Amino acid sequence: MRIDILTLFPGMFTGFLEGSLLGAARARGLLDVRVTDIRDFAEGVHRQVDDRPFGGGPGMLLMPGPVVDCVESVQRAGAAPGHLVMLTPGGRRLDQATVEEFARRERIVLMCGRYEGFDDRVRQTLHPDEISIGDFVLSGGEVAAMVIVDAVSRLVPGVLGDDESARQDSFSGAGRLVEGPQYTRPREFRGLAVPEVLLSGDHRRIAAWRHEQAVAATSRRTHVSQTERSTP
Ligand code: ADE
Repeated sequence: MRIDILTLFPGMFTGFLEGSLLGAARARGLLDVRVTDIRDFAEGVHRQVDDRPFGGGPGMLLMPGPVVDCVESVQRAGAAPGHLVMLTPGGRRLDQATVEEFARRERIVLMCGRYEGFDDRVRQTLHPDEISIGDFVLSGGEVAAMVIVDAVSRLVPGVLGDDESARQDSFSGAGRLVEGPQYTRPREFRGLAVPEVLLSGDHRRIAAWRHEQAVAATSRRTHVSQTERSTP
C-alpha cells in the first residue's frame, strides 16, 4: 500500500515513520510512505503558503495555489491518483470502519492543514474526503495524519505479523465490540487474581467468557458516553 502525506512540516514525520512497526513494514516493502513538503510548490522569493482571511478574522489560511499544485503533482506520480483525504476538524469522524475502508485501498493521499485551515477553494477544486479524528482542534493535521497512518498500516496484511490480532481488535468485526479485560503474568497482583476461566485451558469457555466481557465493556462505554453527553 502507498500512503502520501502532504504537509508544511515534513520533519514531524521522521521519527514516527522510523518507529518499530512502521519502520519494519516499510523496510519489508509492505508500505510505501512518502512525505511531500507543500512549500516546495509555493511561488516567489518568500515561498509564501499562507495569507490573512478575506473579511477579517484571526490567523492565517493556507492559500489554494500551492496546496492544489502539490496534490496534483503527487497524484500524477505513481500508478493511480489514490483516495484523497483532507484532515480537518469539520470532516466526518474517523472510526474503525473508515480505517478498514482506507486499508483496502491501493493508495491514500493525506493533506495536512495548519494555521486556521485551508482556503475553501482547495475543497471545491479537489473534492477530498474530509476527515476529523475527533471533536477538538489540533494545531495542524499532522498528528491526525499520523493517527490514520498508524491505524491503517496495522491492517495491511503482513504488517502485524499476526493478522489474527487485528481481527480481534476492539471495534473490528461484525459486532464492533470493544475488547474486554486481558491478563498476563503474574497470576496474582496486589491481591487481584486472574479470572479462573482464563487458566482453565477450556477454549470454548474462554471464548464465551471473552465475548460476554466484550459485550459488557461495550455497553458500559456506551452508557458512560451517553451520560457525559447529557451532563451540562
Ligand atoms: N486539524 C485540526 N484539528 C483536526 C482534527 N480534530 N481532526 C483532523 N484534522 C484536524
